[in-house]
Amino acid sequence: MRPLEKENNRKQKLITDEEMDKQREYSELVKTVLETRYHKKPLAFIHTYGCQGNVADSERIQGILEDLGYGFTDEVEKADLILYNTCAIREHAEDRIYGNVGAVKKLKRENPNLIIALCGCMMQQKRVSDKIIKSYPFVDLIFGTHVVHRLPEMLYRVLCTGKRVVENSDSDGVIAEDIPVRRDSSFKGWLPIMYGCNNFCTYCIVPYVRGRERSRSVENIMKEARELVASGCKDITLLGQNVNSYGKDLGEDVNFAKLLRMINDIDGDFIIRFMTSHPKDCTRELLDTMAECDKVAKHLHLPFQSGNNRVLSEMNRRYTREQYLELVRYAREVMPDLSMTSDVIVGFPGETYDEFKDTLSLIEEVKFTSLYTFIFSPRPGTKAYEMPDPVSREEKGRRFKELTDAQERIAAERTAKMKDKVYRVLCEGYARPGILNGRTQGNVMIEFPEKSGVDMTGEFCTVKVTEPLTWIVRGELIV
Ligand code: SAH
Ligand code: SF4
Ligand code: F3S
Repeated sequence: MRPLEKENNRKQKLITDEEMDKQREYSELVKTVLETRYHKKPLAFIHTYGCQGNVADSERIQGILEDLGYGFTDEVEKADLILYNTCAIREHAEDRIYGNVGAVKKLKRENPNLIIALCGCMMQQKRVSDKIIKSYPFVDLIFGTHVVHRLPEMLYRVLCTGKRVVENSDSDGVIAEDIPVRRDSSFKGWLPIMYGCNNFCTYCIVPYVRGRERSRSVENIMKEARELVASGCKDITLLGQNVNSYGKDLGEDVNFAKLLRMINDIDGDFIIRFMTSHPKDCTRELLDTMAECDKVAKHLHLPFQSGNNRVLSEMNRRYTREQYLELVRYAREVMPDLSMTSDVIVGFPGETYDEFKDTLSLIEEVKFTSLYTFIFSPRPGTKAYEMPDPVSREEKGRRFKELTDAQERIAAERTAKMKDKVYRVLCEGYARPGILNGRTQGNVMIEFPEKSGVDMTGEFCTVKVTEPLTWIVRGELIV
């Protein structure tokens, strides 16, 4: 595609100013309706499942609700609006949501003015919304991932008609800017740089529920990054399903490595993280940039999914074990202290025990700091859902345990090497009374006693490791 065509395609995805103005008009209408309906500040309870992309969406939903006059509560019984932002990545995630929605039915009976809303990836699937419509008639609002910016309008329709509103049509996806954001943390910020996914890994539902890859403009990302830094944010995580393909749709001379450099050049004391990187698009340029940029955490989350080439090919991952290991080798050559984490799937359809052993040998070779391990969960609509899957649940469970046992040993060996070393840590809060916690750049959790009762939350601290455990380490505050 030529640059101009790309630019035109992108413009079609950008939500127009007129549409956003329309939503602002709906906001004014909703405010009036809420005042007469509740005679007090209505409270919203929001629960978010799934990945940081969903968390970032929820922060925008909260921003819209705050703008409409809502306050927030952690107690579901006190809420006038209950919203679950859902995840469809594994069956277990979906089951939990059905359970929770069932449980709030009685609250609706006690408070007929209560609004129950479901949104997010699960709701983007027709199979799911049909089931909710049929079996959960007390749910007032269902919306998918492409219409978050239209929340004022959807809420207005619920409030005025009392009828259920469902908005989850298929879409390649949009980019909506200028949505207010209400962040959960003042010192850790999520910054979406792109949305959607083009990769269609055969096990994965994300491309079906999040649309095609689309990048936010450099200008809008930089604006948000500068605002985050100016507001005191110390840890910015750039988000995308595959941040390494950032910019490919922009038709400009920009890519993820260049974007990283630009954010690194913003004045201030802060750390830059990013997730997720896809190995097929992870370039030497990116690894060199990470090494050269002082603010970029020396931590790389690079999911490998399987250590076996046949399985990788069946998964449509489009890299080999050898290519993955070469990336790791180069990354460690340019960043000797690099901490690596990854995602792995055990029990992909047809994976034999020998093939699984290639995954084991890969983790022995790389020695990840930590691993997110999953048993394959068939997702209706994906290719892998149709694949013959002869290995029993029990056998998959045994392999899963073998993998997690091996990783536990590797993690313990790695943390043991941290003893007596000194780390700069962003304090995130209290683990328990008197004990603070934070993360090293490499994403290892570190716990340390406070000094003279001073709460260091949101500050950088220098901490010496005194007692390495398996997944976390304990230490003492030096400064
Ligand atoms: N875009 C990211 C991953 C997002 S999903 C990437 O490509 O790296 C997070 C993780 O969930 C995946 O890396 C994968 O390990 C896991 N996952 C996705 N679909 C799954 C499924 N159907 N069953 C089990 N695990 C799955
Ligand atoms: Fe899913 Fe693959 Fe896209 Fe990641 S890259 S979101 S695993 S399809
Ligand atoms: Fe789940 Fe959707 Fe994220 S399926 S993992 S919330 S993109």
